Amino acid sequence: MCDSALTRRSLLQAAAGLSAAMLLPVKVYAAREINLIAQRAKAPLAGAQYPEAAVWAYNGTVPGPEIRVRQGERVRIAVENQLAEETTVHFHGIRLPNAMDGVPHLTQDPIGPRETFVYDFNVPDAGTYWYHPHQNSAEQVGRGLSGAFIVEEREPIHVDRDIVWVLSDWRLSQVAQIVDFHNMHDMAHNGRVGNTVTVNGKLPDTFAVLSGERIRLRLINSANARIFGLTFGGHKPMVIAYDGQPVEPHTPPDGRIILGTAMRIDLVFDLTGKPGERFQIVDNFYRGLQYRLLDIVYGEQVLRENVLEAPIALSRNTMPEPNVAKADRHDIVFNGGMMGGMMMRDRGMGMDMMNMMETMRSGKIWFINGQAHLGTVHEPMLTLQRGRSYILAMNNETAWWHPMHLHGHAFRVIGRNGKPTQYREWQDTVLMAPREKVEVAFVADNPGDWMFHCHILEHQESGMMGVIRVA
Ligand code: C2O
Ligand code: CU
Repeated sequence: MCDSALTRRSLLQAAAGLSAAMLLPVKVYAAREINLIAQRAKAPLAGAQYPEAAVWAYNGTVPGPEIRVRQGERVRIAVENQLAEETTVHFHGIRLPNAMDGVPHLTQDPIGPRETFVYDFNVPDAGTYWYHPHQNSAEQVGRGLSGAFIVEEREPIHVDRDIVWVLSDWRLSQVAQIVDFHNMHDMAHNGRVGNTVTVNGKLPDTFAVLSGERIRLRLINSANARIFGLTFGGHKPMVIAYDGQPVEPHTPPDGRIILGTAMRIDLVFDLTGKPGERFQIVDNFYRGLQYRLLDIVYGEQVLRENVLEAPIALSRNTMPEPNVAKADRHDIVFNGGMMGGMMMRDRGMGMDMMNMMETMRSGKIWFINGQAHLGTVHEPMLTLQRGRSYILAMNNETAWWHPMHLHGHAFRVIGRNGKPTQYREWQDTVLMAPREKVEVAFVADNPGDWMFHCHILEHQESGMMGVIRVA
């Protein structure tokens, strides 16, 4: 594991005498001191036949540099803002102190143009995380600001390769430029689903593997709105972590890997095909919009005859176990959005048509317990007592999917539609199907004001957001 980092490091050392950093793109940081510059850049998002797209990018690359540290390490990340607008960086899923959470006005002043802010925190848990701005997120993430944040286990599982795929989705014009933000139609429907999907910033085509190989594949969905539903051409990769958090290894019932926005899934992927074979990875999440993501292509060699017999379960992270029997329970209802051409009527709010149109014009489309919040600072929707266990009983009364994210914590998904879940998976972003009821449980152990929002960024920016206070 971490082969890529080692190879790169030894390559760097081999580049005798020269400034190694000039020879290879700086991608993997071994050190704890990291510099990120948010800046304008160009990226060939639509491939070589099209002009490069103007992007906003960390250190000029899309996605930004992969940050790779060890569990328990302390990291200092200096973020310099070379954009023309304010920004912040949120380290999605990492349970860090509130002041390092990167929410503008709520946890810090935004980083103004030409300013620098230093994020400094310990990384308590291993896993696959990511970073992105929390200021004008729909646009800043949609223009390219995001990157992988990998925290290696102290004792990693044995695999042949550890691979990260940052899945992104772009809405490109005919000349391959990023277009169309803050669109009311997107806000009221699926969000800003794009027309071009990239893997690690490139149009994917093939992925070369060897028969018998075992790969740890870390999937990160950094798209604004697109949800992925991936099939692996007859292969049965095992899920070993959701949102960075270990789960009992399993294959999903239909073999399809569903990845809502902002979610991560770690797979142990045994390449059981034969030399020379070729399989398609297909994304068929949206009905009628199925497409081939890329082909898995087997080389001529055989790496090993039989599947590796090494354990694949990850050791647990450091979250305290919620006491579900004694937990306080809070109901959270989600409303809003379009439904058959009309904004979905909220039973509790009893709005008439006129009021609904007015509300929509003001940009408020989605409601959490009857409230639509447009900024990041508001009265907490809930105040939780530090150290206590809580159940959030969420009820999606809308006709749409919503990946709901809570900052500063991970929660166990304990129930769906009244039935206990099989794996009680830890997550920080839970995907709710239309009309679904989802129950999560956690210990409110991290003090501060934490965002709780839909990670379809167009839903977030049109109201689907609140603050949960742990005091
Ligand atoms: Cu990925 Cu509130 O963030
Ligand atoms: Cu949503």
